[in-house]
Amino acid sequence: MPYIEQYTMHQLWSLVGDYRRTNVYSYWLMSGVCEGKTVVDCGAGSGLCTWLALRGGASHVIACDISPEVCDYLRGQFKDIPQVTVVELDLCHDDIPKGDIYIHELVGNSLLGEGMSQIFSNMRSQGIENIYPHHARISIGSVSHDAFIPSTNCDHLLSPYARDFINFLEDYEWNNSLTVDYPNLQATGISHIANVDLRKPMPQHLMESERDGDIIWEVGFDPQFVVSYSNINATSNNWNAKTPYAQFVKWCNIESFRG
Ligand SMILES: C[S@@+](CC[C@H](N)C(=O)[O-])C[C@H]1O[C@@H](n2cnc3c(N)ncnc32)[C@H](O)[C@@H]1O
Repeated sequence: MPYIEQYTMHQLWSLVGDYRRTNVYSYWLMSGVCEGKTVVDCGAGSGLCTWLALRGGASHVIACDISPEVCDYLRGQFKDIPQVTVVELDLCHDDIPKGDIYIHELVGNSLLGEGMSQIFSNMRSQGIENIYPHHARISIGSVSHDAFIPSTNCDHLLSPYARDFINFLEDYEWNNSLTVDYPNLQATGISHIANVDLRKPMPQHLMESERDGDIIWEVGFDPQFVVSYSNINATSNNWNAKTPYAQFVKWCNIESFRG
């Protein structure tokens, strides 16, 4: 059985409030890529990407999620928007609806978290290639920070479109259960282990169990990692920090490790 994260609505909303992640998705989905397209939102959760795709000009958005509760919530949220269809399915095993573009935010708490490799393998078997983001760099390092501090409300740092999404939500409550601030973030001893195309089979040697250290993902919508975010998963205490790639590079001086 794949590992599947169960989220509460508070947690999904707190992910929306994670402006570091949300703004990257917002800028990409609003950049014109959705115009006139059928967009499949894979793991739709809060509905953020569904909503952004619509605002970005999509003609139809298919919001997929494995959780019956999340699907009920999405049906309620988008009940007055006929261009949105909600489908309850398991992206690891089920047939995935046809679309022009597929969007996901599934780089979770571990290298293979949320069944990510199974989801991409299922997509591969169905000939789905137009899925974003799919450029990824994986490194191992030692990531430290002074304290693990629940974030204050950072909604004011959201892009204008993401703020509009919050206004659209009927019961939105800001909640800090997933979003954290991490002052004095530092990464040392970074060793870059691979550049991967998430659509291709994940090499066996990249499996997390064989690694010792914190995993740093950099996930890009484009090959240059211009529109991208990093996801830092400390194996020791399971904290999960997402930040724009450029900011992370600056904080950690990561380029110097690449040589
Ligand atoms: C990290 S959350 C992101 C949600 C959304 N993109 C957002 O920004 O709010 C991942 C979502 O994927 C869903 N999910 C996880 N595994 C899944 C699977 N195998 N099939 C379908 N959905 C899945 C979860 O229920 C959750 O809502």
